[in-house]
Amino acid sequence: MKRYHVTTFGCQMNAHDSERIKGMLEELGLGEAVSQEEADVLVFNTCTIREKPDQRFAAHLGNAKMLKLADPEKVIAVGGCYAEAQRERLFDLYPFVDVAFGPGTIPHLAQWLGAGGEAPRGRFGIADQRQFAGTLPMHRERRFQAWVQVSMGCNSVCSYCIVPSVRGREVSRRPGEILAEVTSLAGEGVREITLLGQNVNSYGRDLGSSFAELLRAVDAIDGIERIRFTSPHPKDFRRDVIAAMAECDAVCEHAHLPLQSGSTRVLKAMRRTYSRERYLRLVDDLRAGIPDLALTTDIIVGFPGETERDFEETLEVVEEVGYDGAFTFVYSPRQGTEAATSRDQVPGHVKKARIERLVDVVQRVALARNGERVGRVEEVLVEGPSRTDPSLLRGRTRRNTTVNFAGTSIPGALVDVRIEGATSTTLRGVELAAVAA
Ligand code: SAH
Ligand code: SF4
Ligand code: F3S
Repeated sequence: MKRYHVTTFGCQMNAHDSERIKGMLEELGLGEAVSQEEADVLVFNTCTIREKPDQRFAAHLGNAKMLKLADPEKVIAVGGCYAEAQRERLFDLYPFVDVAFGPGTIPHLAQWLGAGGEAPRGRFGIADQRQFAGTLPMHRERRFQAWVQVSMGCNSVCSYCIVPSVRGREVSRRPGEILAEVTSLAGEGVREITLLGQNVNSYGRDLGSSFAELLRAVDAIDGIERIRFTSPHPKDFRRDVIAAMAECDAVCEHAHLPLQSGSTRVLKAMRRTYSRERYLRLVDDLRAGIPDLALTTDIIVGFPGETERDFEETLEVVEEVGYDGAFTFVYSPRQGTEAATSRDQVPGHVKKARIERLVDVVQRVALARNGERVGRVEEVLVEGPSRTDPSLLRGRTRRNTTVNFAGTSIPGALVDVRIEGATSTTLRGVELAAVAA
């Protein structure tokens, strides 16, 4: 039996795409190899959101090249966002790559690879061949949690971002297909689903439907105890979604609401189409509608033209909102995006100093937020043993914070945990009693 290995970079959408890639390869009769060394077909599912993932992929591909030199029968396939961004040059840059395919063109991978996994060289999935997984096989990495794709592509024009050019225009998946998938996942024992889209809350506009309607329909499916979604765009976060979040029992008390910058001037240059004030109003509305809501965010420092004052405004918003967590990024120019050609690039040492200051504030604020949980009892979905201490269990609260706790429950159980300690990213606690198993 031939074996495959998939290496995944990037966001949850890519992780989910990799589950579909694995499912496809298993349908072709390949088994999973534990390492790149032992695989006959090596797949790299790439990301190009910043320079760093590009560099990490280049390092991996260097290793793949050595493996291919030692064994020319090995097939090397490169898919995802970097492959799409470099489609004109990929085979010149890396002549030992056999197959390339763009993000979302996974159903075609089987055709290109052929029965048994032999590679016809140089096939490339172009954007108009994108498809939803539909009824295709899926190799899920987690038993009780699953991703469900609701849309592909992005119609926004954020001036720093390469995603629209590699993932194409936004297309919503039919509600019937989504609900059928969720129903079948519930039948397989999945308790938590995360609805995925680049701009998840603009879902349905092209179908005359809406994200709020979708949330309510998913909430009505038996067996799904928790519903999450990522990422919403603040500009499309309408009141009907807040109302649906508040009313649907399964929808978790958490919103990942990318801020990017706290300066209205910078937000404008980023083409985010909201101001600092409008963002803060949305936060107020969310908190008024959904008690005990957790808020997390994405922030970029060093966007072209960002002044010290702009940056301080970002710090102010972090303090004012009091995020439970934040992903922080140094601006990375991406070829072909509007901001990359700006002449106002911020020097590297300034970006570095700013991200350090930002991380300090984010950690302090998150620690204070997590500290407020100490003494409370939280519902935790058990995921497995703790990553740092195998004598403890690990799980997540409805507010999406990881908890390491002493307990006896099995993965997939929903248990009550008394919180006894906090860091800026995790909680610690003790299981009280299984509320459902
Ligand atoms: N579609 C999602 C996520 C996009 S990528 C959304 O809009 O929310 C995830 C995060 O990467 C973005 O929110 C942004 O903070 C960051 N990012 C995107 N492009 C970047 C760039 N060129 N440099 C640095 N960070 C970037
Ligand atoms: Fe990129 Fe903006 Fe689209 Fe998010 S909403 S994927 S940041 S263009
Ligand atoms: Fe990266 Fe593509 Fe996701 S660029 S962040 S893998 S959409």
